[in-house]
Amino acid sequence: MSAYKIIDHTYDVVVVGAGGAGLRATMGSAEKGLKTACITKVFPTRSHTVAAQGGIAASLGNMGPDHWTWHMYDTVKGSDWLGDQDAIEYLTREAPAAVVELEHMGMPFSRTAEGEIYQRAFGGMTQNMGEGPAAQRTCAAADRTGHAMLHTLYQQSLKYESDFFIEYFALDLIMENGECRGVIALSMDDGSIHRFRAQAVVLATGGYGRAYFSATSAHTSTGDGNAMVLRAGLPLQDMEFVQFHPTGVYGVGVLITEGARGEGGYLTNSEGERFMERYAPSAKDLASRDVVSRSMAMEIREGRGVGEHKDHIFLHLDHIDPKILAERLPGITETAMTFAGVDLTRQPIPVTPTVHYNMGGIPTNYHGEVVTIRDGNPDSIVPGLFAVGEAACVSVHGANRLGSNSLIDLVVFGRATGHRLGETLKPGAQQQPLPKDSAELSLARLDHFRHAEGGSPTAQIREEMQRTMQADCAVFRTERSLAEGVQKIDAVYQRMKDIHVTDRSLIWNSDLVETLELDNLISQAVVTMHCAANRKESRGAHMHEDYPKRDDAKWMKHTAAWFEGWGGKGGAVKIDYRPVHEYTLTDDIDYIKPKARVY
Ligand code: FUM
Repeated sequence: MSAYKIIDHTYDVVVVGAGGAGLRATMGSAEKGLKTACITKVFPTRSHTVAAQGGIAASLGNMGPDHWTWHMYDTVKGSDWLGDQDAIEYLTREAPAAVVELEHMGMPFSRTAEGEIYQRAFGGMTQNMGEGPAAQRTCAAADRTGHAMLHTLYQQSLKYESDFFIEYFALDLIMENGECRGVIALSMDDGSIHRFRAQAVVLATGGYGRAYFSATSAHTSTGDGNAMVLRAGLPLQDMEFVQFHPTGVYGVGVLITEGARGEGGYLTNSEGERFMERYAPSAKDLASRDVVSRSMAMEIREGRGVGEHKDHIFLHLDHIDPKILAERLPGITETAMTFAGVDLTRQPIPVTPTVHYNMGGIPTNYHGEVVTIRDGNPDSIVPGLFAVGEAACVSVHGANRLGSNSLIDLVVFGRATGHRLGETLKPGAQQQPLPKDSAELSLARLDHFRHAEGGSPTAQIREEMQRTMQADCAVFRTERSLAEGVQKIDAVYQRMKDIHVTDRSLIWNSDLVETLELDNLISQAVVTMHCAANRKESRGAHMHEDYPKRDDAKWMKHTAAWFEGWGGKGGAVKIDYRPVHEYTLTDDIDYIKPKARVY
């Protein structure tokens, strides 16, 4: 491995990823006087957060009565009681302050006539602990909220003295005796290898939507941090819970925001029927995402889909005043024309449920500290390692995330991580030398793929993985589809041994980087399929037709899954469980007891 020259860096904190969570953590860390680096594989403002549309949830009460306890109730119910209630209390209590902070940073929110932040309705958000009507809780910058937020946070991160390593691809964590000591990265433009030693590493690497064939996520959403955690011998949590957004543009998967239904849009089947009235008589089109996606899939399955193949659904906005559409939904107006050839002021948009979000990820507490099961302790902290954003599983979303709770998760826990880093680290504290073999795993893996001479191109194996996940780990799952899925995805994993990389150079080698990304994706795909086959109940986004009911007695617990190997070697999945936190953070609210989840 000595052929690779290594450039060494020492920082107090290294953040991997520059989406909303990564930038908020970078800013928070630098603000505390900690020497902070942010490593990112794309330019910060191209991170996937930029694609977030509809908004960010916080009980500001600008458009009607609201309270953080109502937001908490909705989030617990949305999670189908798999969310940890201490973390959910933290999220919903802190949300208003986190949004006001963004406003003060200059984020260009849409405004009410009174000049307050505009808030729209979103699925599952209600007033009065689920008893009242829809709550307008989702703060919006038209339908480009992620774009506005990401630019604001990048500007703020630059204001503090943080260093950005842009177009650097993080390869692996440096672990020593169960502690994280740093991270190794490849600079993609010149092929140099960089070893970052740090008191703490924060993984903010996003989700792994690209394990599926049709996803709203960017092609860069390959869950690199999650895969690094697996290779470090640590577990991922609740990976069976994959969210399908009800309204991806049919055939292309591009997102049409839930804000469209928040502004009055509705879904119809081939008979022109507003079918959500049957499935969710009270919330209708604004039921939670898992419920709406399942209802759409049922309509299609029962022959009431639209189009030549009766395989999608119509979303109508053509009854809404075009002036409102231009002001509040300009982005999707453009998207509908570009990707579906539809003028949404006059025609319905063809949509279908599309993979959108991973509820599962790296288990953390509400300070952002990564936890694992060690010596019988399910909340054992992994020293030196933090995770935030979609990469993390705090767990506030449990089995199903409510729309607009993602952006708030990014900033609340990005901020909490900054606070924790400030409380626990000393700027410039002396760090021990790294172990001699600190770059061995990273470079062995890099070198292996760079010289891979098998018979299967990366794109071929990737497509097989994506089609397997799409077919067998979908909105509806059965014993049979999951058993077949496990066999098929394990076989796809074995095919990694036969991978072929054509470009051997180190200068902007996208063939190599895509192969490393595929290796990251496939470990998560295998874990997801095994965890889904293991959970014998239906909860949130995991709809198991052979076990159609939620089973709190047996399954109100988090799945923790370990994966052994990389590059087609090994492939074993080990599963254990962590208890759901059935307690709140303070006495201001009692534990919200499980009950039937109807909308
Ligand atoms: O529909 C949307 O605008 C997506 C929001 C979210 O996933 O939170």
